[in-house]
Amino acid sequence: MKEKIVLAYSGGLDTSVLVHLLTHKHGYEVIACHIDVGEAKDAEALTARAKSAGAIPCEFVHAREEFAEAFCFPALQAHALYQGVYPLSAALSRPLIAKHLVEVARKHGATAVAHGATGKGNDQVRFELAIKALAPDLRVVAPQREHNLNRDACLAYAAEHGIEVAATRRSPYSIDENLWGRSIEGGVLEDPAHEPPEDAFAWTKGFGEAAPEPERLHLRFEKGRPTHVNGEALSPAALIARVSEIAGRHGVGRIDLMEDRVVGIKSRELYEAPAAVVLIAAHKDLERFTSLRQTSEFKEIVSQRYANLIYDGLWFSQLRDALEAFNQELQQRVTGEVTLKLFQGTVRVVGRSSPFGLYDHALSTYDERDAFDHRAAAGLIELQSLPLQLFAKLSKEVE
Ligand code: ARG
Repeated sequence: MKEKIVLAYSGGLDTSVLVHLLTHKHGYEVIACHIDVGEAKDAEALTARAKSAGAIPCEFVHAREEFAEAFCFPALQAHALYQGVYPLSAALSRPLIAKHLVEVARKHGATAVAHGATGKGNDQVRFELAIKALAPDLRVVAPQREHNLNRDACLAYAAEHGIEVAATRRSPYSIDENLWGRSIEGGVLEDPAHEPPEDAFAWTKGFGEAAPEPERLHLRFEKGRPTHVNGEALSPAALIARVSEIAGRHGVGRIDLMEDRVVGIKSRELYEAPAAVVLIAAHKDLERFTSLRQTSEFKEIVSQRYANLIYDGLWFSQLRDALEAFNQELQQRVTGEVTLKLFQGTVRVVGRSSPFGLYDHALSTYDERDAFDHRAAAGLIELQSLPLQLFAKLSKEVE
């Protein structure tokens, strides 16, 4: 009997070729598994294509809400931005895909899983670290890495073996999309000095095209989770999609990053992540409003470490669980409303309110309602300056 292998199937050319290759060159029985994380694929057409390439069973996993709730929201609460700007959209989807691959493998009694990531990228690392963390017994096969098939080789292979290819327009870029963002690389973008052509973008408007008037956006958070957009309650996935659409109209969320990959390559990556950029700005503001200074300062360190570990493929790790516990502690107070203004590629927080806001009007006002003891500040300065005074005195003697 043939061994069974579960392939992460995107529906694109590469993974369609992999179905055939794993069946005929590697001798597996292939189970194609598509995990929908929000790139709006047609389930029927996708399944038909997998079958035409030779996959017998085909699994279509609806994972949009799970992705939003269990991956995007924790990353939002962590303010996870790799190298300060990239909201990790592609990176966040890999552990979720890996988790479902493992579940499908168990269901079918498969002994191996396969993915279509290349040997130059981060995705191979993320898929495989996640799979090893969840199911060390499963073999991982990466035919793309083994055979180094480029696009032309894939097209030739598909033509030779009569594999149906999606009838989509051939894009000059390599694109990865999900609810949290869209990544664009390759083609003319490989010249870091080359300004990104407008056709690289699909979710955000350029300066000439963005809405001509600023727009106000109201977001409500409950215990760190965004729940309402302009007063309307939405599910996590629907909320992200709604914010994405509104912010995209204003050209918010375009990112152009000279990125450091796990494998040591510096590459030019473009992203469109309107929802992530806006939600992180709002959440950060509300969290700071409801946290003490020392907590907010430490959070900066947590955010950076959290972003790096997601980028590096360590979603299923002890460190993430530990950082998650820190973030969860803070979320208990992140309840309230944030108002933002969007205009021509910019987002600005213009107001916030929370029952847990650590703002006391009587303490901060300059008007007659002032309740702050001004004289107490003199004592603070006296004590804070003690070491400075001593240092200054001794410095004179050193001269
Ligand atoms: N550089 C980004 C990351 O590592 C995007 C990767 C997108 N993947 C792709 N196959 N185009 O997260």
